[in-house]
Amino acid sequence: MKDFISIADLTPADAKHLIELARKVKKNPARYQSAFKGEKFGLIFEKPSTRTWVSFDVGISSMGGSAIYLGPDDIKLGVREEVRDVARVLDRYLAGVVLRTFAHETITEFQKYFGKAVINGLSDFEHPCQALADYLTVLEKFGSLKKPLLTFVGDGNNVLHSLVLLAAKLGGRIHYATPPKNEPSSVVINQARQIARKTGAQIQAFHDPLKAVRGADVIYTDVWISMGEEHLRKQKMKAFRGMQVNRKLLSATGKNTQVMHCLPAHRGEEITDDVMEGRQSIVFDQAENRLHAQKAVMLWLCKKV
Ligand code: CP
Ligand code: NVA
Repeated sequence: MKDFISIADLTPADAKHLIELARKVKKNPARYQSAFKGEKFGLIFEKPSTRTWVSFDVGISSMGGSAIYLGPDDIKLGVREEVRDVARVLDRYLAGVVLRTFAHETITEFQKYFGKAVINGLSDFEHPCQALADYLTVLEKFGSLKKPLLTFVGDGNNVLHSLVLLAAKLGGRIHYATPPKNEPSSVVINQARQIARKTGAQIQAFHDPLKAVRGADVIYTDVWISMGEEHLRKQKMKAFRGMQVNRKLLSATGKNTQVMHCLPAHRGEEITDDVMEGRQSIVFDQAENRLHAQKAVMLWLCKKV
């Protein structure tokens, strides 16, 4: 595989392998310190970022390479110049790119014209690097990828799409609760259910978060207003009423449930401050794992391991 654009492109064995590799990289980072010596990656971002930008930059540097950040006002992908032209030019300079875009199609278009690794650093459809780090965190906390029940409460958007696809690939157990008008894409869910038939994954959809979290080992949430959706704030705030991850929801699991969030968090919206800061929150371990998981992705795609 040359690119990492959708979790759907991984085989179940690839998915497991990447998480195991991430664990190895985390345990022994020195082993990979020269893997990308003299190589440069492009970080092309149409939207803001803290974790994705910095963890890729640090990850590449820690493996001997370097990165150039190209923000929304730098190359103006598809505005100043067509995506296919930018891709062919950068192909002559770079060892790989991480792309964060509004439209998922911008990444797939770029991929067609760029000969080296293309990594999806979040699109409107998927956030595959996030899902890998999430399941690395689950493995560390629970010692299993299959057994823990993850319940996602929130928007049926990019983060949930990648998470549900990865749960399907790994044979995991996932519930998700979304408002009726904010369900995940039926294409993704059908795909995940099809994969689940082979891997034994369990996927269940809900609208009522209290029902969805029963027995959950992890409650996971994401912002209600994603980047680029600021104009939808009024209607989404209304639609997501009752979907907040708070003490009451956390105590409805009947377990000592852990709380995950891809971050950034909007405290007082999808999650309360006390839950974010509480002892069941593992959000910063999860954020750290972005670094290790992405190093594994780069090593694997670029055939350095
Ligand atoms: N979770 C995540 O992707 O964070 P950033 O938007 O800060 O990169
Ligand atoms: N769904 C969020 C995820 C941020 C990491 C967004 O797209 O803004």
